[in-house]
Amino acid sequence: MIIIKSIKGIRKFVKKIKKENRTIGFVPTMGSLHEGHLSLIRKAKKLTDIVIVSIFVNPTQFGTGEDYGKYPRDLKGDKIKAKKAGADVIFNPTISAMYPSNYCTYVEVERLTLPLCGAHRPGHFKGVTTVVSKLFNIIQPDIAFFGQKDAQQAIIIKRMTKDLNWDIKIKILPTIREKNGLAMSSRNKYLSKKEREKASIIYKSLKKAKK
Ligand code: PAF
Repeated sequence: MIIIKSIKGIRKFVKKIKKENRTIGFVPTMGSLHEGHLSLIRKAKKLTDIVIVSIFVNPTQFGTGEDYGKYPRDLKGDKIKAKKAGADVIFNPTISAMYPSNYCTYVEVERLTLPLCGAHRPGHFKGVTTVVSKLFNIIQPDIAFFGQKDAQQAIIIKRMTKDLNWDIKIKILPTIREKNGLAMSSRNKYLSKKEREKASIIYKSLKKAKK
């Protein structure tokens, strides 16, 4: 597995893969990889020839007062996990490469971004759709993989891909849960024992109510 940091470098790699008529599976992440991400990488490995995982904590999707500064980062651990799951390349650009100082272009999906998470995190989805658009343009994948856990994000990205006529298949894969039912998330590291127990009780009662 190789690590590519520059946009020029990844473009060169993508060009070579395309020339060889090999397919590219893409798993965009903000790192701190867990079993949910790894399930996407494993699936990508099954369905495509080359798997590229991006690791980029995207500042534009964090609002003021949100956890951008303390968002968990573990590139060393991520390299080991991604390689074991079948990734061929980690694309790990710098902030200044993705957003140079004169940056002023954003991609916004209307309507679908307004309710639910969008109502509580103004600008969040604009940041997500902007960075995913940039990554799609740079990596030009055949298939991109996202988790069902972020259900609104998945719907928005599917819509955006269709609306912008990208020839990219979007695969949404099931949520991977901890033993107690809690959906795996990099931010679970913030939860106390009590909060974990509470989440588990809510999950179990929702599951019961569904039966
Ligand atoms: O789901 C995430 O981790 C992020 O929103 C994504 C899609 C990698 C964009 O930064």
